[in-house]
Amino acid sequence: MAFFEWTDNLSVGVEQMDIQHKKLISIINDFHNTASMGDDKSAVQKAINGLVDYVQMHFAEEETLMQKYNFPQFGIHRRLHERLAQDVSEYAGKLQAGQKIMGIEMAFFLKGWLENHIGETDKKYGLYIAQQKKQNIYE
Ligand SMILES: [Fe+2]
Ligand SMILES: [Fe+2]
Repeated sequence: MAFFEWTDNLSVGVEQMDIQHKKLISIINDFHNTASMGDDKSAVQKAINGLVDYVQMHFAEEETLMQKYNFPQFGIHRRLHERLAQDVSEYAGKLQAGQKIMGIEMAFFLKGWLENHIGETDKKYGLYIAQQKKQNIYE
């Protein structure tokens, strides 16, 4: 069993976002593996960089989608994304400063954050977009 498993109840009802969330989960699994293998700092650093790039791309696409549909809670949602990006760069900074590898701790943090964020916060725009689409049929 993988460290972080996708389950259907994480679906937000927007196919492209589900695909990206699955990819993100698989990147976190790879990251967890790399971090578990030991003290290879450069491998962990490389994995963090890949993770950060994908997270940034995903957040940007998600924010564009929310704006496209004028999602009312866009501001709050974006602030949650910004907060996570800050937390991740703090972890990366600690690693660069030569502190004891925090990769596994970071993997657990990301898993918990994402389970909650996808399952609670992302689902809200999914529901909203589904409602908007339904209304437009009758316009
Ligand atoms: Fe989000
Ligand atoms: Fe998301």
